Amino acid sequence: MYHDEVTTKEPMASVLANNPDIYFVPPKRSSEWGQWEFRPGSYYDTTTGAKHPDWADVDLPIATRDIDRLRRDFVRWGYCKIDGAIAPDRVEMLRDRVLAQAEGERLAGIAQKTQSGQNINCCVNKGRCFEQLIEQDPDLVQGGPLIEQLVDEALGKGWICASLIAAISLEGGVPQALHQDQGIAPDSPHPLTLNLLTPLTDIDETNGGTLLIPGSHRVLTDAMRSGEPVGVLPPAINLDAEAGTIVMIDGRILHSTGINHTDTPRIVMLNGMQIDALRQQENWMLSVRPDVLERASDKLLHRMGFQAVTYGQTNEGHGFGATGRPGEPAGALVEFRLASDRGDYVRVGELGPDSSPADLAAPFTLREVVGRARAGGRSAPLGIGASGVRNESAPTG
Ligand SMILES: [Fe+2]
Repeated sequence: MYHDEVTTKEPMASVLANNPDIYFVPPKRSSEWGQWEFRPGSYYDTTTGAKHPDWADVDLPIATRDIDRLRRDFVRWGYCKIDGAIAPDRVEMLRDRVLAQAEGERLAGIAQKTQSGQNINCCVNKGRCFEQLIEQDPDLVQGGPLIEQLVDEALGKGWICASLIAAISLEGGVPQALHQDQGIAPDSPHPLTLNLLTPLTDIDETNGGTLLIPGSHRVLTDAMRSGEPVGVLPPAINLDAEAGTIVMIDGRILHSTGINHTDTPRIVMLNGMQIDALRQQENWMLSVRPDVLERASDKLLHRMGFQAVTYGQTNEGHGFGATGRPGEPAGALVEFRLASDRGDYVRVGELGPDSSPADLAAPFTLREVVGRARAGGRSAPLGIGASGVRNESAPTG
């Protein structure tokens, strides 16, 4: 019925057809990437905007705390730079933790090697500072409130975190292929996902500053909406930013990890954010350590997706009628996960008129969670009452 629509490879099909240099097979060319020099028109052997002949005279985003400038930069170019979002002492603490964790994972034989270096996944389990980074806690991220305001404006309130990954580029690595993070709805008129890139080392053209094509989010969206192929794109630049800047990039912009030509590891934290209707990158529901969950604030739980909404992530029906706000008992899911960890999660199974009194009176975790939520009294209506009767918020046929 919708064969053409569901199988389309656009916009990337025409991006690659009309800009063939964007496509490469990294392992075959790994030896070439070490011989870096700027090549005009290249997407990978490039330089910063200020040094690039095609971009030097263009008013590209600048590092600033002026919210109007940040808004304009983000809409026009698909990225903006929040100056000094993390203070130097906090940057150092984060960097030390990332480097120690990277070494530990290598020693444990579980490091995730990438074509550019090494990634550390599910950072929330690997240091209190990462919990704060996901929360944009002002104790760690002094620019947190400004950033949250910008994310509210870009995604709408209620957004959640897709994942938090430390991306380390190492000498000898190759660039990642240019791509869009937002893998769905490339014709959406506004981003459904964005990424908060936090360099923990200064980044530029020498050490793998993130490659991006300024303004490409608009070019690709406009092509999709008009039904036309994407034409010849402008060249990419290397992002340059001081450590502690937070660079917010639109999920639709073409970008990738750059090449590190130095012998010092380049670290960028990738903190994806998205509307809450999308599936998250990290499966927090399964992966987060129990002790992290037990100490997690309402805000951190919400950001990791532990607050159900009527249309998403309800657990045995708990969450119907919930609005998804942090701390809302009607949608809180963490108790189910903790019960599962303890080995005493009792799920509702087959029941009927012939069920024994013991079966009917079983200590269903659902009953306990709903009961506690009701006792909390903050938030009716609940999806399923203790009596087992669905209320009006539950979906009907
Ligand atoms: Fe990406």
